[in-house]
Amino acid sequence: MSEWLKAYRENHADFDQLSAIGTLPDNPFLAFSEWFDAAVQAQEREANACVLSTCTAELQAHSRILYLKELLDNQFIFYTNYLSQKGQALGANPKASLLFFWPQLMRQVRIEGTVTPIEASISDAYFATRPRESQIGAWASQQSEALTDRQELIARFEAYDAQFPAIVPRPPHWGGYALDAQYLEFWQGQPSRLHERRAYIRHQNQWQSKLLNP
Ligand SMILES: Cc1cc2nc3c(=O)[nH]c(=O)nc-3n(C[C@H](O)[C@H](O)[C@H](O)COP(=O)(O)O)c2cc1C
Repeated sequence: MSEWLKAYRENHADFDQLSAIGTLPDNPFLAFSEWFDAAVQAQEREANACVLSTCTAELQAHSRILYLKELLDNQFIFYTNYLSQKGQALGANPKASLLFFWPQLMRQVRIEGTVTPIEASISDAYFATRPRESQIGAWASQQSEALTDRQELIARFEAYDAQFPAIVPRPPHWGGYALDAQYLEFWQGQPSRLHERRAYIRHQNQWQSKLLNP
């Protein structure tokens, strides 16, 4: 072994061993919850923000950030406008991915699977907990459509505010989606640059995991 490598190994305790991913549970959803909680604990900003990537019927990929609302029955739930660009893409091709990056912890989680709209009653219950301005905004914003000017949006906001003086019902075009995962992958950056990756793959209803080269 070269002198350089010998010294390098001595200076990098992580070189010879798996650390973070070595202790992850075999259940990928428990593993995700563990890392999510650690991200919150580490005060990662917007720990629940993730990139949703979709692919249209024309095979054009699109990515955008949104908030993961919850992990419900092992499904990743997020909320949006069903008529938006992402809603239309998911209608044509429900295969999508979610990507989390927690820089303080040097961690990334990739989640791939199939997305379907959730039950209306679950969307109703969540919508009812949202602040009024978000509720009115969900009616006012024709998400992803061209906007002439800001005044157009404000005028719609004012109109819906007047239409719903008390309870704001959930717009039919706004609600949740659930991503049913086929694949999760955990990446842990390491000072030695020998980063760690562990992939969980679902075969029927069994999850198997394996290490990947970084
Ligand atoms: C931090 C952050 C959080 C966001 N959360 C959401 C969200 O939960 N739901 C949503 O529809 N859009 C959210 N957005 C806006 C989306 O990134 C995107 O602009 C919007 O959904 C329209 O995307 P589309 O035209 O591809 O459908 C968020 C943006 C940022 C930067």
